[in-house]
Amino acid sequence: MELYNIDARDIDHVLINEEEIAVCVDAIAKQIDKDVEALGGELLLVCVLKGSLIFTSDLARKIKTPLKIDFIKASSYGSGTVSGGNLKISLDVGSHDWDKKFVVIVEDIIDSGNTLSKLIKYFKDKGATRVKTCTLLDKPERREVDLAPDYCGRSIPNEFVVGYGLDVDESYRELPFVGVLKPEVIKKYIG
Ligand code: PRP
Repeated sequence: MELYNIDARDIDHVLINEEEIAVCVDAIAKQIDKDVEALGGELLLVCVLKGSLIFTSDLARKIKTPLKIDFIKASSYGSGTVSGGNLKISLDVGSHDWDKKFVVIVEDIIDSGNTLSKLIKYFKDKGATRVKTCTLLDKPERREVDLAPDYCGRSIPNEFVVGYGLDVDESYRELPFVGVLKPEVIKKYIG
């Protein structure tokens, strides 16, 4: 049974439904289990707030390896290159024995790639030797830096997606699917 009235929630169409998301999460969890076993280290999922909150909590429950979860709120600004621009951290992770960790940075979506590429450097600078990147969604068309995620649910076209953590103006994060907003709604938000 559909719990949500798609039309009333401003959704033009569902891009990835709940079942499809669950398949992606399952596959990524299995891959992470395999890699931790092969490469060693204590698994630490770093949830990049706020968008990856829901993805991280689903993923954590599917991974069989014992793990810890930490949170970071970061955004990149300035130049679009890896060397240029800055990473603004408004909530930081706690202290960890970084050299012992198998760090998986968990994102909901990669767009330009600026945030994630800077986060990789951020954790490597802390002393982490095993740093992996994970995203539910990837928009390769939008990439500004050379970055390919280690774990990826779906590559998607450059569409305005919301749900499963993704927002517009803090709305729609709670939708259990990834959907594309109606054109008139997009217009309302971005003109
Ligand atoms: C989104 C997303 C990534 C980043 C991706 O976060 O969750 O962190 O943007 O964009 P990039 O690849 O161009 O760097 P956002 O800043 O919208 O914050 P939110 O997760 O709190 O919604």
